[in-house]
Amino acid sequence: MYNTIIYLVGFLCLVGHSDQRSTPTDDSYVAAVIEYQVLSDINTNLNNYIRLIKEAADQDADIVVFPEMTLGSRRVPVPIHDVLKDHPIPAENPGIYDEVLVKISTAAKENAVYVVINLQEVMDCENVTGEYCPEKKEYLFNTNINLFGEFTRTPALTPDLGVFTTDFGVTFGHFICFDLMFQVPAVQIVTGTYPGPIDDDVNHDNLVLKADPSLPSHTSRLLVPGYQDFILSEDGVVCRFKVNLKQTENTQYQPKSVATFDELSIYATLQTPQTVESLQAHDIVYYPVSLKPSILPLNSNDFALEIQTMLGTVDLYNYTLLNNNVGLYSFGIYGRVFADDGKEPTPPIIEEEREETTPA
Ligand SMILES: *[C@@H]1O[C@H](CO)[C@@H](O)[C@H](O)[C@H]1NC(C)=O
Ligand SMILES: *[C@@H]1O[C@H](CO)[C@@H](O)[C@H](O)[C@H]1NC(C)=O
Repeated sequence: MYNTIIYLVGFLCLVGHSDQRSTPTDDSYVAAVIEYQVLSDINTNLNNYIRLIKEAADQDADIVVFPEMTLGSRRVPVPIHDVLKDHPIPAENPGIYDEVLVKISTAAKENAVYVVINLQEVMDCENVTGEYCPEKKEYLFNTNINLFGEFTRTPALTPDLGVFTTDFGVTFGHFICFDLMFQVPAVQIVTGTYPGPIDDDVNHDNLVLKADPSLPSHTSRLLVPGYQDFILSEDGVVCRFKVNLKQTENTQYQPKSVATFDELSIYATLQTPQTVESLQAHDIVYYPVSLKPSILPLNSNDFALEIQTMLGTVDLYNYTLLNNNVGLYSFGIYGRVFADDGKEPTPPIIEEEREETTPA
């Protein structure tokens, strides 16, 4: 007995009948890549999507690609597998598809353009026989292959690379988010020849990112309201912090809360990255990182970053906050020493409780 609801985060390619802006004999095509800031109301997003599809088509785009999770967080029902395969075009089957899919598909069709969107799909397998349905009460899917510990979702029922061909002679592969970091599917989809399995390990243990062994080792110090100037060092990294944590009568800083600063700078002494000739790449990377409550990083004019190299061996990073009004979750210099990959972490990494994550 199947009594199951399937949720899946899906890429749907809603294909219209192209009037062949570009053709297979052309040596180029026009792709519109949309940067879209999601609004809370799905209908507003939907109308904006439809307008942007038309705008792109009016400028002769052959394909329009939207970013992940920007249509809204509503789970959109889709028909069960067999129905979906027999009637794949929502615009031509409005009776069996959700309004969101019908409207996007219609916009694709009317404007004769390929449209790639991302949304969460829910497939209801209750009362269905002869379909492959998971037996768990609830199965969560990310059809772009789920590699990165997004534990609220499980991988595709049958492993599959997301690929579609177009009438302008280009075959597209798609994957999402963190999948970019992996050889499978990212490299496999691009080269078509990467000699790995799509995934033949049901536990997906073979598909985790190599942990940075330096992560468990750290030095920290809690900030107090007001001014403090201190140095933390570990493993050859020396950081001087000048911090003036803003204090007002109502300010009560809690762990994991937003902080504002009258002054904030990190002056770091770091090992200069060296070029690894065989890889034609640096052995270390450093980035300034920050996170605001909007989950965006600082604007470039809200901070200063000065980098000086001394004698080719030591880099001095001066990362200073310039905007004292902005609230911050984090402000730091991220570094990664690739040469340490694969080494045993000291101290060992402790498995944390698996938390539900949202796609990002
Ligand atoms: C499955 O069948 C039950 C009983 O007939 C019905 O109440 C329920 O709505 C059906 N579910 C679906 C998804 O069709
Ligand atoms: C770091 O940069 C800030 C902003 O540009 C500057 O005011 C400060 O003097 C610099 N600190 C050092 C130690 O160079």
